[in-house]
Amino acid sequence: MFPWLLLVLSLCARPGTGLPPRHMDSLVQILDALESPARGGSPGSVPALARALGVCSTPGCRAVLGEPPEPPPGPPAALPPEQWQLLRELLRAEPPERRAVLAPDGSTVALGPLLAGIEAGLRLGGGLGGPLGPPPTLRPPLDPLLAVTVAEVLGTSFLLARGGDGAALGPGGCWDDVDDPQNYTLTGPPSPLPDAVANGAMDGAVLGARLAREPAPLAELLRGYYGTGNGSDRGRPPSSYRRRDFGALAGPGKLEEEVVAVLELLRVLPPTRGLLEGVGTDEVAAVARRAAGEFTRRYVECPTIVPRCMWGARPYRGTPSLLSLPLGSVFIHHTLEPGTPCRSFRACARAMRSMQRFHQDTRAWDDIGYSFVVGSDGYLYEGRGWHWVGAHTKGYNTRGYGVGYVGDFSAALPDPDTLALVRDELLPCAVRAGHILHNYTLHGHRQLGHTDCPGNALFQEIQGWPGFQ
Ligand SMILES: *[C@@H]1O[C@H](CO)[C@@H](O)[C@H](O)[C@H]1NC(C)=O
Ligand SMILES: *[C@@H]1O[C@H](CO)[C@@H](O)[C@H](O)[C@H]1NC(C)=O
Ligand SMILES: *[C@@H]1O[C@H](CO)[C@@H](O)[C@H](O)[C@H]1NC(C)=O
Repeated sequence: MFPWLLLVLSLCARPGTGLPPRHMDSLVQILDALESPARGGSPGSVPALARALGVCSTPGCRAVLGEPPEPPPGPPAALPPEQWQLLRELLRAEPPERRAVLAPDGSTVALGPLLAGIEAGLRLGGGLGGPLGPPPTLRPPLDPLLAVTVAEVLGTSFLLARGGDGAALGPGGCWDDVDDPQNYTLTGPPSPLPDAVANGAMDGAVLGARLAREPAPLAELLRGYYGTGNGSDRGRPPSSYRRRDFGALAGPGKLEEEVVAVLELLRVLPPTRGLLEGVGTDEVAAVARRAAGEFTRRYVECPTIVPRCMWGARPYRGTPSLLSLPLGSVFIHHTLEPGTPCRSFRACARAMRSMQRFHQDTRAWDDIGYSFVVGSDGYLYEGRGWHWVGAHTKGYNTRGYGVGYVGDFSAALPDPDTLALVRDELLPCAVRAGHILHNYTLHGHRQLGHTDCPGNALFQEIQGWPGFQ
């Protein structure tokens, strides 16, 4: 190897593991190299390499995409050793939650379902050696794109959870360091479908559908979809719309049909036949209904709430008091300071930390006051959360949640998607989850204290929201 190359590599490598961060940017750089003829790679080589390294190793996925190619004897010429090692780890590390990266929008994405969806999409579009097919005799027929991303894992997860005590979905997790992510830890007992897999599956379906219409180099596709680095303050990357876009692709009815189809496929495949022994078609239908319903409620109809560990929260000071649920009210605030909306994960996380510092150090409160904070990056941020009494609306903190929009909304409004995040997603979700009463009342902070909060423009706006009084 050339000495200058060694020098460059040692500058990029991280002390300790020697591997690049488990960030989407690292994956995009790997794909760039693999797809670049100038660097010894070739366009279109990625799906076969990913398959050979372990993507789509489950029986249903292999029945749809075919048997994987042999693993290559060594690293492809285009990849330096560190990138090669990272790629292999990202595709087959144990436990499975290690097969995920942090995306610029702050979400964690499992690569298996993402890359399986990408391959299915390319092949549906006629690339990579033509169309793919599930066994043609299959009844009902299945949609390859949903089968390899979400339907198989969802169906088997709910099938296995039947009668057991384990959860079938979740949990989320935390990264050791969002600036240099290396270690992702789940925040509870694992299910076969943790949040990272749900994200990867939704992204795989959305991007696969796009590739089926119009093929594109994968590095470019992922760079456009996720954005790069720490995100840009100019706007939300398309990945922050994954729940909406996946919902448009697969409503609950469609998802339920696809789970049935995949379970009926597993019934006839030798490795999984035993799993469905004694499970009648009615029971398969019931499993699929529950699976699609719960997936849709958790991941499509409810918004993502970025947990405290992801924005770098300090611990609560003292002993928090438990709320008695369901609550009857919701109070809308604006933060005023920061006075401009945050439009990237990095900017919103910074805003959270600075508000927490101010509330703890200057106001001498136990913690950031709000229950939830609304970014303009497509995400809600966990303050005190669903269960703990906040410090947002003096005299009413035990009666309602305090939801604060980052920015100053005296004259201007948050953008329409950011308004909808609370009005159409958080509030109905909180009712369904039993956190607030179905007949909750909604108020602006100014109705309960001497303040202009949440600003004239936002106060005017929320007067048209359900529950306003
Ligand atoms: C990752 O974090 C967990 C929990 O903090 C810890 O137990 C584990 O040793 C860490 N793993 C690595 C590879 O650093
Ligand atoms: C994000 O910003 C931090 C601090 O500037 C930097 O150390 C880190 O490398 C950045 N992350 C990425 C993926 O660009
Ligand atoms: C709201 O609903 C609860 C339970 O359904 C009921 O007890 C309560 O009286 C209702 N409140 C109002 C103001 O209608």
